[in-house]
Formats: sequence, structure tokens, C-alpha cells
Amino acid sequence: MKVLEVEGNVPLLGSVEISGAKNSAVALIPASILCDEEVNLNNVPNISDVDALESILIHLNAEVRRTGESISVNCKNVINNKITEDMSVKLRASYYFMGALLSKFKKVDMYFPGGCSIGSRPINLHLDGFKLMGANIMEDGNHFIMEAPILHGANIDLNFPSVGATINLMLAASKADGETIINNAAKEPEIVNVATFLNNMGAKIRGAGTSTIKIDGVSYLHKCFHEVIPDRIEAGTYAIIGALTGKKLKICGIIEEHLEALLSKLKEMGVKLKVEDNNIIISKSRSYKPINVKTLVFPGFVTDLGQPMSVLLTQANGMSIFEETIYENRMGHVKYLQKLGADIKVSDRTAIITGPTPFIGTEVVATDLRAGAAMVIAGLIAKGTTTIESAEHILRGYENIVEKLTAVGADIKIEEVE
Ligand code: EPU
Repeated sequence: MKVLEVEGNVPLLGSVEISGAKNSAVALIPASILCDEEVNLNNVPNISDVDALESILIHLNAEVRRTGESISVNCKNVINNKITEDMSVKLRASYYFMGALLSKFKKVDMYFPGGCSIGSRPINLHLDGFKLMGANIMEDGNHFIMEAPILHGANIDLNFPSVGATINLMLAASKADGETIINNAAKEPEIVNVATFLNNMGAKIRGAGTSTIKIDGVSYLHKCFHEVIPDRIEAGTYAIIGALTGKKLKICGIIEEHLEALLSKLKEMGVKLKVEDNNIIISKSRSYKPINVKTLVFPGFVTDLGQPMSVLLTQANGMSIFEETIYENRMGHVKYLQKLGADIKVSDRTAIITGPTPFIGTEVVATDLRAGAAMVIAGLIAKGTTTIESAEHILRGYENIVEKLTAVGADIKIEEVE
């Protein structure tokens, strides 16, 4: 197990460079299997979710070269091997191989994906869409074999704008026969990034970023270069850190439009921040106003920043309400915030947070990726040492978090323990 140790109460100054977006990269890498030549992806974050996807690509006989932040994938000799249970459950994004392999080979054999335990996270919308496109799905426990004698276009209405289902159906439709229309599609920036990648390879996708996406299937996808967008969740996490510890902390390489909901909430609280070009400069203020935060689909307040944001709310002057609407179980971090000193009452998916409360360092657990980020933030403002167990969850989504925080003055280290 990996353990992070944070000595809190240190002002942070200097610059943090934002990496490529996890939730884009983890879709672009499986999408690369659709290419009939070689693709090059740049700005790929070095996180363990990317390592897990690289292993799956190699298992499928793709030629993969990873240098720094670039990855090139040649799929000329790809074989449609069964993706084992071990590989499938390592991460959520393994499910993108369902759409990609179905599109390329009209058959896929793999298992239910893993990922953070933040709710039941069914994949019924993905499967229903594949079925409408002609796939027969044999489901045995968590094992899925899907086959489509003819994979064809379909008119698909999502009853929720699921990020995963929208991307998976775009992948499947890219090489299907005819036109697919996805109604009530997700509009997150990651959807646009994946659609742009597919179009750069010759796919015909229109409307990504709106509620209706239309895809005309093609039979061949050619080589291309593509850039992963900056990680809006990582940027938002550092912005929250800046609001709590920053002395003109500069967060570099962001896209402001992707962060609008967060930045407007920070401004509502009274956080001092300035956006200049693609950077945010942010400093800690003496006191913050309490506010209400409700997570929503894009362009609303993103669920992945709800847990980090809840830490900031513990330091506001009065009562804030934080409501999570996307997942049933994104409050796993609360009991550890309480252990550090927070005053939080949870009822179902709503937390009532009363501040400001000082934090005293103690032993806590990263119950999932963003809960882990919340613990790091809490540790940075706590007096004394905060020890965060199961820190490997954090490394799934935050590139070089120890190095980045150390470079701006934090006292943080990571260790492997038995
Ligand atoms: N849902 C269904 N059926 C489906 C698909 C989704 O009921 O077939 C429900 C889910 O249970 C959930 C909601 O719809 O309640 C949202 O799920 P969505 O499909 O949009 O999310 P996801 O694809 O499972 C991705 C990210 C998440 C991020 C969400 C929302 C990846 C690998 N994961 O998950 O990232 O929270 O979109 O933006 O891209 C994280 O990074 O911490 C993380 C959890």
C-alpha cells in the first residue's frame, strides 16, 4: 500500500503545470485501437490508469511506444484477444474497449469494468446502445461477450447524458454501417476531445459538445497526431489548494471555459483569483463566505471536484450545503474530514458543512481517487502530520502530485508500506 504524509500549514507559492486530462486520455487510448495505421497522442498524463490501458493495448498485440508525455500506438497487427478479468477491473475506462473492439472486429470478450466505488455505476446505457446497433450480448455474471454480425447505425436516446455511454457509442458508431444519432448526449469537454481525435483519423462525427451527436460510419481510419486537453479536474483541485494555501499560486495551462462553474463558485465565496491567458493566479484570503454547491453534468459544477470543494467549504464562515447529484456514494471522505476536525452532517447525498474549523493532522484513508485528493487538500491545511493510506488511488488520476506540490513549497512525501 502507498501512504502519503503531509505536513500542513505551509503557504504555497510558485507555479503548477497542469497535465493532460485523465478522463480524455483514458478514452483516447482505447479509441486508438480503431486506427488502421499509427496514431500519436501528446500530453498524455503519467498516471497509473494510463499504465493499465497500455497493458491492455499490448495484450491486444498493438505496438506501443511511450516517451515522456507522448504515446504512439500502431494497431496494424492488433488481435481481438479476450480482455481478462484482471485487466478489465483495474479501471473504469477499460469499458471503452467494448465500443472500440465492437467497432473494429464486431466482437468483444471482456469483463465489467472497475473504478472508484462511488455508486453502483451500471453500464446499461452502453449495452442498450450497442444492442440497438445490432450487437447480441451474452452476459454471465460480470463476463460479457458481444457480437454484431452487422454493426449498423441507430437512433439512440440516452435517458441520462452519460459520459461513458456517449463516448462508447461514438466509438462503436465510427466504423458501423450507416448513421448513428445519439440524443441527450453528454456535453463534457472530454467528449469533444475524443470526437476531434476520431475525426482527425477520418471519422465523420458532428455535434460533439451538444446534446445531439451524429456519426456516419466509415470503413478506414488513418494515422494522426492528437493532443489531450488539459485536465480540468486537476486544475480545479490545485485552484482549491490555492484558495486555501496559495500566495499567488500560479496554475498554468488551463482552459478557462472548462472551469467556469468552479471559478464562479470560488468568486462567490470571495476567493482572490485572476485568470491571465491560460493561467490562474490564486491566493488565500482571510475569510470566505459559505455557499451552496450542487454537482451537475457539464457545464454545471463537475462531480469530480465535489469532494475537493467540500474541504474548502469547511473553512468558510458559516453553513454551506454541498449536494452530489451524479453518484449515490460520493461522501466516503466525510468521516475522515470529521476525524481531522470538520463539522459536517450528511444526509443521503447532501452534506451540511459548518465552518471554519481548524484541522489537526491524523491518520486518514483515500477511499477513492477524488476522496484522496480531498485528503491531500485537508492535509495541506491541517496542523501537524496527516497520513493518507491507500494513496495509490490518488496516483490513478494526479500526475506527479508529490513532485508538483513539493515544487511549490509543500512538505509531502510518499512511501510504500506493507
Ligand atoms: N449511469 C447509468 N447507466 C449507464 C451509465 C451511467 O445509470 O449506463 C449513471 C451512473 O451510475 C452515474 C451517472 O450515470 O450515476 C453518470 O455516469 P457517467 O456514465 O456519466 O460517468 P462514467 O462514464 O462512469 C466518467 C468519468 C468519471 C466522472 C463521470 C462524470 C471516466 C473514466 N470516468 O464516468 O470520473 O465522474 O464521467 O463526469 O471518464 C473521476 O475521474 O473521479 C471519475 C469518477
